[in-house]
Amino acid sequence: MKIFVTGGAGYIGSHTVRLLAEAGHTVRVYDNLSEGHRAAVPAEMLFEGDLLDEARLDEAMQGGYDCVMHFAASCSVGESMEQPEKYYTNNTVASLRLLSAMRRAGVGRIVFSSTAAIFGNPACGTAAPGGAQPGAVVPLDEDHPTNPINVYGQTKLDFEHTLASYAAAYKLGYACLRYFNAAGAAPDATIGEDHHPEGHIIPIILQVALGQRKAVSIFGTDYPTADGTCIRDYVHIYDLAQAHILAMERIEPGSGLAFNLGNGAGYSVREVVESAERVTGRPIAVQEGPRRAGDPAVLVASSEKISRTLGWRPRFPQLDAIVETAWRWHREHPRGYGD
Ligand code: UFG
Repeated sequence: MKIFVTGGAGYIGSHTVRLLAEAGHTVRVYDNLSEGHRAAVPAEMLFEGDLLDEARLDEAMQGGYDCVMHFAASCSVGESMEQPEKYYTNNTVASLRLLSAMRRAGVGRIVFSSTAAIFGNPACGTAAPGGAQPGAVVPLDEDHPTNPINVYGQTKLDFEHTLASYAAAYKLGYACLRYFNAAGAAPDATIGEDHHPEGHIIPIILQVALGQRKAVSIFGTDYPTADGTCIRDYVHIYDLAQAHILAMERIEPGSGLAFNLGNGAGYSVREVVESAERVTGRPIAVQEGPRRAGDPAVLVASSEKISRTLGWRPRFPQLDAIVETAWRWHREHPRGYGD
């Protein structure tokens, strides 16, 4: 198939592009390189452009694409609380422009990068199924009520609703993939995670292991969890990429799919630090700090639906294996892509 990939030079996009190409698909990457990296994708696939530039987008989308994969977004929870305008522009306005361009070009299918952040604060809310107590780890399935507590999650949920309206009115077919915490790198360490500035926990911890930072700050030690730090479900980037291909093949015109994507296991920030110490064999200095705005205490996925309906089987379900691939990337590319 011919696949049009927005944000394909970014972290999750570039790993998916690689799998798509390996599976024999023809790929065009549309990326403004604000977050993405030129070196993360083959040069012949890259078409530089911004989603807000309608003429450029129309030009890029010529040629009969079968499906769009929409990764391009701003995606830092903390930043979204400080700069909401950036998030509504890049995630809401730009995504609407994309849908308009798809309609003009006659592209009827889209796989959308959604997020666990649409669920908000489930373990501390009133919506925990089965009467779970605050602090209990509740794997979230697709029917769990959505209630984002940060601007990032709100923009992603808004666009899920937009897709449903477009499906009903214009026969768009779509799949929303709600990523929990994407982590790790390509097993051959040729592509990996590189954000500027880096805000994600595993790269930051590995920068400490490399001596590039003195310590990792733990954002909050008073959460209602066993060790007081936030619990997240880390899912390997290749497993996420695989899910896109499986989902794309099931999209039908005029209807939508939604899948939660994680490993169903939660790890606290302290446990992630311990994992990195095991994998790297180096001590990781920590500093205990205050909570970061917009952080839910616990986010753990139930991925039962995608396993059952699409046969998704993670290759890297263990945290140490995920951290191991990230470590190989960071050790071999201490300055990331160097751009
Ligand atoms: N954390 C720290 N110190 C840091 C960075 C992070 O303690 O220096 C903590 C955070 O407070 C959080 C956990 O580590 O509890 C993970 O934080 P990340 O920033 O790595 O990831 P988030 O959970 O905030 O967000 C990620 C993606 C989002 C997605 C979300 C869904 O970036 O796009 O997972 O779970 F929505």
